[in-house]
Amino acid sequence: MKRLAILASGSGSNAEKIMDHFKNSSKASIALVASNKLDAYVLERAKKFNVPTFTFTRKEMEAGVLLEKLKEENIDWVILAGFLLKIPVELIRAFPDKMVNIHPALLPKYGGKGMYGAHVHEAVKAAGEKETGITIHLVNENYDEGKIIFQAHTALDELDTPDSIAAKVHELEHKYFPTVIEELLD
Ligand code: GRF
Repeated sequence: MKRLAILASGSGSNAEKIMDHFKNSSKASIALVASNKLDAYVLERAKKFNVPTFTFTRKEMEAGVLLEKLKEENIDWVILAGFLLKIPVELIRAFPDKMVNIHPALLPKYGGKGMYGAHVHEAVKAAGEKETGITIHLVNENYDEGKIIFQAHTALDELDTPDSIAAKVHELEHKYFPTVIEELLD
């Protein structure tokens, strides 16, 4: 049984899909939901699934508090689901090829600094892209440049807005992220 931790900073709709997917699994359990935001809605979602939660400040994370907690909880895999802080290199190195992120666009396009949340969808719209999608990738020291595990595409037209693009992307994320994680665990 693999022990997974989810790191999230916000609403956590992806985290919820993952918790739901693994709730009766014999392969993996969600052992922890950790957030840098005390009032992140993801913490409420975790309670609903009886998943323990942990909160920390950026400073604490940088001082190694989160890494310590993940070790204490014997975490095998770290899942980033809308986690907005830059992860300390020691933490990344502690989970080689065992840290996975979801990015709401088709990397290598629309990745890197400043490309998170609504900024991504606004940039996709501004560029007049005919499609966007999701990228699930391993995390290495250069954040959005880890090995790509999976991508899914969705078509766009000129009527799409950043909000409608976000909705299309979320739909893909919810559909694929839990199963892609499950396959990774093998
Ligand atoms: C997702 O779009 C994910 O790709 C990005 O942050 C968003 C999190 O959404 N990294 P939610 O909190 O899971 O609803």
